[in-house]
Amino acid sequence: MAHLRLDSSLRHDGSVSRELTAAVERAWRAADPGVEVVHRDLGADPVPHATWQLAAVAGFLPAAQRTPAMRAAVAAATRCADELAGADAVVLGAPLYNFGVPTAVKSWIDLLSTDPRFDPRTMVEGGPLRGRPVVLAVARGGGYGPGTPRAGWDHATPYLRRIFADLFGAEVTVVAAEYTAAGTDPALAALRPLAERSRADALALAGAVGARALPRTRTPG
Ligand SMILES: Cc1cc2nc3c(=O)[nH]c(=O)nc-3n(C[C@H](O)[C@H](O)[C@H](O)COP(=O)(O)O)c2cc1C
Repeated sequence: MAHLRLDSSLRHDGSVSRELTAAVERAWRAADPGVEVVHRDLGADPVPHATWQLAAVAGFLPAAQRTPAMRAAVAAATRCADELAGADAVVLGAPLYNFGVPTAVKSWIDLLSTDPRFDPRTMVEGGPLRGRPVVLAVARGGGYGPGTPRAGWDHATPYLRRIFADLFGAEVTVVAAEYTAAGTDPALAALRPLAERSRADALALAGAVGARALPRTRTPG
């Protein structure tokens, strides 16, 4: 089985979430040089909103009544679900956009949820990713810790935890770098030391959790 790396940042140069997912991938490869890593770049190649709509509507129709576009959308959902269901370990890079998840991540999860394996009504008890390591590599322009003015405004991380841990049953670790906007916004220059510390801590954690993500087939016991 392969490991799955997902990215969703709009940018490549300077992307902190991609730096974190790359650190996890490096740790995977260092722990197991023969590991196969599938890379799905949702930022560069997002699931079109219409694909999810077509797959969702197809679910209400008998197979014979589905249009060719619906059948293609269902096939795309199956591929998406095969990829995730077949992953031993997963890292998902998710920037905070407009206080939520990137639409590329939302449309991927929505499409996935049209497949019976990832549909809450039909998935196996304990979830389709039960016990599997999933790293959520989050980058936020600002700071959302306790006591900050916008504590509780990050609606992406709790949502992703809900989906991957509570629904899919994965063992989730959140690796988060905050204040990333301080690197580019002169008005936030005073926050740069804080941003650097947050990034360094996140990179260290990414390496550590990546190194622990042994394939289930090779985990003792
Ligand atoms: C369209 C857009 C919306 C954003 N919205 C937020 C936001 O709501 N809160 C925040 O803290 N940062 C926000 N940011 C900043 C990003 O979270 C930050 O730049 C992060 O590092 C992006 O991830 P990346 O470094 O992997 O590209 C936004 C950035 C963009 C481009």
